[in-house]
Amino acid sequence: MTDATTLYQQLGEGAGIATVVDRLYELIIGDETLAPYFATTRLVEQKRHMALFLAAATGGPNGYKGLDLDAAHSGRGITDEDFDKVIGYAAQALSEAGVAPETIEQVAGALMPLRAQVVTAAANA
Ligand code: HEM
Repeated sequence: MTDATTLYQQLGEGAGIATVVDRLYELIIGDETLAPYFATTRLVEQKRHMALFLAAATGGPNGYKGLDLDAAHSGRGITDEDFDKVIGYAAQALSEAGVAPETIEQVAGALMPLRAQVVTAAANA
């Protein structure tokens, strides 16, 4: 591969991302502090949207047609702690899939700037 190898390619493209997303939601739903957010969620759809979102965010095809992240998370009261846990679970799922640590760092680096769109809990005031 050349220097132009995208993160998407390093993750194993669509199939690799699908495996990681399956494991990510297993970890999220297995966490009693995160599971309630997804109580009424259709997980099959959610995983499909997340996989398409991640493909686009890592330099792959731009097939994501869901809500923008502000709208998707607005009013849900998601905290910084929740966000950090989800990033941690994403890193765990990537690691279990055999993704290299440097690549995991890069994925986390691509996700961190999304915090402001996802964290919707009122700041302590
Ligand atoms: C970088 C981190 C995150 C990304 C990239 C992300 C991405 C997404 C995407 C793509 C959707 C689908 C929107 C749609 O269907 O139109 C979504 C929905 C959602 N996200 Fe996130 N998310 C992140 C973090 C979180 C966190 C930390 C929580 C809470 C623990 C959360 C809870 C939800 C919920 C509850 C929904 C709606 C599910 C439903 O339709 O029932 N997300 N997110």
